[in-house]
Amino acid sequence: MNATPILSPRMSGIKASPASVLRRRARELRAAGREIIELSSGNLDFPTPDHVIAAAHQAARRGETRYTDVDGTPELKRAVQAALLRDHQLDYEPNEIVITNGSTQALFNALLATLAPEDEVIVPAPYWAPYLDQVRLAGGMPVIVPCAQNNGFRLRAEDLQAAISPRTRWIVVNNPVNPSGALYSPEDLAEIAAILMRHPDVWVLADGLYEHIVFNGAPAPTLAEIEPRLKPRTLTVSGLAKSYAMMGWRIGYAAGPAALIREMITIQSQTTSGASSISQAAAIAALDSAQDVLAERAAILRARRDRFSELVNGCSGLSCTPPEATFYLLVSCAGVIGKRASDGKLIATDRDFSSYLLEQADLVVFPGEDFGLSPYIRVSFANPSSTIEEAAKRLKRACEALQ
Ligand SMILES: Cc1ncc(COP(=O)(O)O)c(C=O)c1O
Repeated sequence: MNATPILSPRMSGIKASPASVLRRRARELRAAGREIIELSSGNLDFPTPDHVIAAAHQAARRGETRYTDVDGTPELKRAVQAALLRDHQLDYEPNEIVITNGSTQALFNALLATLAPEDEVIVPAPYWAPYLDQVRLAGGMPVIVPCAQNNGFRLRAEDLQAAISPRTRWIVVNNPVNPSGALYSPEDLAEIAAILMRHPDVWVLADGLYEHIVFNGAPAPTLAEIEPRLKPRTLTVSGLAKSYAMMGWRIGYAAGPAALIREMITIQSQTTSGASSISQAAAIAALDSAQDVLAERAAILRARRDRFSELVNGCSGLSCTPPEATFYLLVSCAGVIGKRASDGKLIATDRDFSSYLLEQADLVVFPGEDFGLSPYIRVSFANPSSTIEEAAKRLKRACEALQ
């Protein structure tokens, strides 16, 4: 007999992250012999750079296999400090920086350290899905603010103003945005900052995980750099996963006021004891070495973006605008809603369309519903060109088969 645990009330309404569910489903289908293409993945197909792998290997051979300081090795904190100065002209002291197990943990520790029941966190939609359940797990309430396609999926200052209440503790400012690929310019951020200057109790979670996957050259700006007066209430979060194709190494970081960082470190000391020693050594090599790899890879992704968006726009019922950053296309599927598959099944929602693509075209895509904006699907172009070409063929055939 399988025993069922009695769950904490904290788990009510909490689900496994949509990404992990899709990854599992794709694995099952592959095991059943299907040739699945994952357009859903947040994994880049690039390898981690060789010199980074070599640094990890050397660290292991040197015996750097013990627990590190909970908040990260002094050497990695110094490398993060230098990277924040180099890329954003942001000056943080070591006691204002913490190294975490991916930026996921940085975000969660900050929320856990600060939220009281019913506290509100403003999350612009479309959003990276885990923000919502992280807020709920920490006892707070997400307040979702839709960002329409006709404003480039960016938050409008007036919508932010309207969403702020006496209970607002944080606003999430993700730049560039997963899943839309939107990029906030310095001017866009200045408008958001101007609103926040009127609300001194609202803090900012600035998530810049895709900061180097931009197609116009410079790293994406972050709020504390645009409005230094917000720095004392901003947590600048980023990580190495996407920039350096180090998803599995699980290294993220946060920089912010020492008093907040201290509480985040306390949580970390009681939960994970900190990040992997070997991964931290690898991260130093990534941050400290020449950064040419970032531009080289961004150029490859840009070419794929152009090709994939052209092919997607050739599919009947689908449309997208090439994004300024990230490796995702957020594709409107409004034109297929209301159609039927050959077995008569109605495509009533973007989730139905995603299921149809999985069952009939062996394509895994994310439904917009999981990002808080419908009817859209998110498709990734972090795939080799040949995979992108094949995926687009399947997508086109699947759209044409709908009536
Ligand atoms: C916007 C955003 N923030 C944070 C994360 C967490 O990334 P990691 O924990 O790998 O640093 C992701 C992962 O896909 C993301 O898309």
